[in-house]
Amino acid sequence: MRERIVSGMRPTGKLHLGHYLGVIQNWVELQHKYESFFFVADWHALTTKYDKTENLKNDVIDVAIDWLASGIDPEISTIYVQSLVPEIAELNIYLGMVTPQNWVERDPTLKDMAKILRSKEGQNSQISYGLMGYPVLMSADIMMMNATHVPVGIDQVAHIEITRDIARRFNNVYKEEFFNEPQPILNHCSLICGLDGNKMGKSFQNDIKISDTEEVTAKKIMTAITDRSRLRKTDLGHPDECEVAFKYWTIFGTEEQVAKVRCECEKGERGCADCKRQLGALINEKFSEIREKRRYYEAHIDEVKDILNEGSKKARTEAQKIISHVRELINMY
Ligand code: TRP
Ligand code: SF4
Repeated sequence: MRERIVSGMRPTGKLHLGHYLGVIQNWVELQHKYESFFFVADWHALTTKYDKTENLKNDVIDVAIDWLASGIDPEISTIYVQSLVPEIAELNIYLGMVTPQNWVERDPTLKDMAKILRSKEGQNSQISYGLMGYPVLMSADIMMMNATHVPVGIDQVAHIEITRDIARRFNNVYKEEFFNEPQPILNHCSLICGLDGNKMGKSFQNDIKISDTEEVTAKKIMTAITDRSRLRKTDLGHPDECEVAFKYWTIFGTEEQVAKVRCECEKGERGCADCKRQLGALINEKFSEIREKRRYYEAHIDEVKDILNEGSKKARTEAQKIISHVRELINMY
């Protein structure tokens, strides 16, 4: 059997370049090598936003559009919606039974999520039972397709560790080497920071969206932090202290382009405004094809919905095979 990957994202609305560079780009490559399953984790969205579901349906579609536009190919990958595969919820129950409580309690990613949740004003500071179950549900997602690998960002690796532990434990308890112990696949691309130098994130308003227009992108890039000690074009610049703009050059530019920027900056022959105008143009060029595809899918939402429904059916067929074996192993009626 060809090795399988499963990965998902919560429907947080339109995705940004951090999602693209950190995760999606990796999926696009891997889909040619692995049998691939990519899903929108709408149940996971509820773990923190169960009371803010007005945009949930739209957010699911937006994420799917960003994936399709970025090159996830529904002809070779299965793209689906978590909640349209109810077998995942059943597996979640079984996995919950074999998972010791302290495994989820010490999950560092979950601890961080809880901290953020508590710090947000207006959020009920109680951590819900559903949120505590986050890593178990994630394990159900992964094990539902009996994945061998899970391509994720570094922030998700702790969750995958738990999945491996749960898979091993399940196999031990029910005395069959049925589930794979899935390995994370990390992206080698360096993490892109936000325009203000902090982690790129929607809630920090420091992101560039895949869906942003060229004008919006150009405007946003002009706000990127540069070498703060530099006031005039003729001041000698320090690219390595140019917190955001130069970093973006190293991500998007060719080696020659980066060398040229560095040299001109250091000699005081390059103004920051000009430099960022060029950078904006470069990023717009990189994303022009993706954005064009995005506009196509936005104008053909029914096609996107068909892809999600078809993919969910396919995922369900796989899930049913696994769940019937699991029921047998446990001796369910
Ligand atoms: N927790 C992941 C995130 O926030 C989303 C996710 C849910 C996931 N289930 C998964 C990722 C299973 C990989 C595999 O990005
Ligand atoms: Fe940064 Fe470019 Fe300004 Fe140099 S010229 S400090 S690389 S923005």
